[in-house]
Amino acid sequence: MAYLSGKTAIVTGAAQGLGKAFAERLAAEGANVAICDILSDVLTVGVELVAKGHGVLARQFDITSRADCEALVADAAAKFGSVDILVNNAALWRSTPVTDPWEKALTDFDEMMDINVKAVMVMSRLVVPHMLRAGGGDIVNISTDYVLPLRRDGVNAADTDLYNASKWALNGLTDAAAQALAEDNVRVNALCMGPTDTAMLRALFMPGGKLAHLGTAEGPPPEVVAGFMDPADIARLMIDLFKDGRTGENIGVWAGFPIELGPRKRWDVRMRERADFTGQPLRNFGLPPWTDAPEPVWHLAVGQPSEA
Ligand SMILES: NC(=O)c1ccc[n+]([C@@H]2O[C@H](COP(=O)([O-])OP(=O)(O)OC[C@H]3O[C@@H](n4cnc5c(N)ncnc54)[C@H](O)[C@@H]3O)[C@@H](O)[C@H]2O)c1
Repeated sequence: MAYLSGKTAIVTGAAQGLGKAFAERLAAEGANVAICDILSDVLTVGVELVAKGHGVLARQFDITSRADCEALVADAAAKFGSVDILVNNAALWRSTPVTDPWEKALTDFDEMMDINVKAVMVMSRLVVPHMLRAGGGDIVNISTDYVLPLRRDGVNAADTDLYNASKWALNGLTDAAAQALAEDNVRVNALCMGPTDTAMLRALFMPGGKLAHLGTAEGPPPEVVAGFMDPADIARLMIDLFKDGRTGENIGVWAGFPIELGPRKRWDVRMRERADFTGQPLRNFGLPPWTDAPEPVWHLAVGQPSEA
């Protein structure tokens, strides 16, 4: 039986790029997929997945439409019987230098926060009741390595203050929701990628893009593309994340480094460091509810996690 057989995953922004790769991988692992995007290509993705025999619900709408989000979650639950996974992937990238005209800055801020942050909050709150009913689930917020100061300190793109701010805001949603839902077996993590080969990244190298001087009308040259990560590899890492069962983490994925989960961060230590830690033990940091494996499947490249 496929690993996610009988489970249902929602992926936002699944018309192309990472979202499409997530939907394809989740379906290949046996999950029914409910996918949405503002682009009509999401319907083509849906048709392709149906042709491969997968259970699919595909909708074209703007993720800032609360009514459409509500309908997608309700219809996915009705059609497939549950909602077990949510991948908050849809996002807007835009160059927003601090010297931009005032009106553009305000418009950019509202659009970026509505799509990159508010829609994540809306979708997450919509799926949580279904996950609680099902006895658990996984929420994955798609972030960026910009939020990981460890390797990126000081090198965040200077013209992307609003995009950066929107992704940093996801840290709050990820961390607090992970804590709130841990005892209910709902895990909340973020994948924080560096450059990955998608339309969003390629557009930077095309005419009008901020890196156009490095590319052509077709996009970045092959030697630049060679340094990008493959969306399919990030999708594989997501499955590793589900099997691992950790929660509350920003998983860093840097171009040029192995694409792997790395050791778990120690929840017990992190919680004790909190001023409001009550001393109550946290439970259910182990297996996803649907896995058949007797033990968590640790990523082979990192061996056993640190003692936790
Ligand atoms: N590609 C990279 O290098 C990279 C790096 C770090 C993080 N990310 C993140 O990965 C995720 C996927 O990005 P991608 O690179 O595949 O880009 P992409 O532009 O190819 O995909 C984003 C998708 O979201 C959709 N979308 C945007 N606004 C929407 C809206 N209002 N309603 C519904 N759908 C909407 C787009 O139509 C598109 O299909 C994003 O969250 C992005 O911030 C990408």
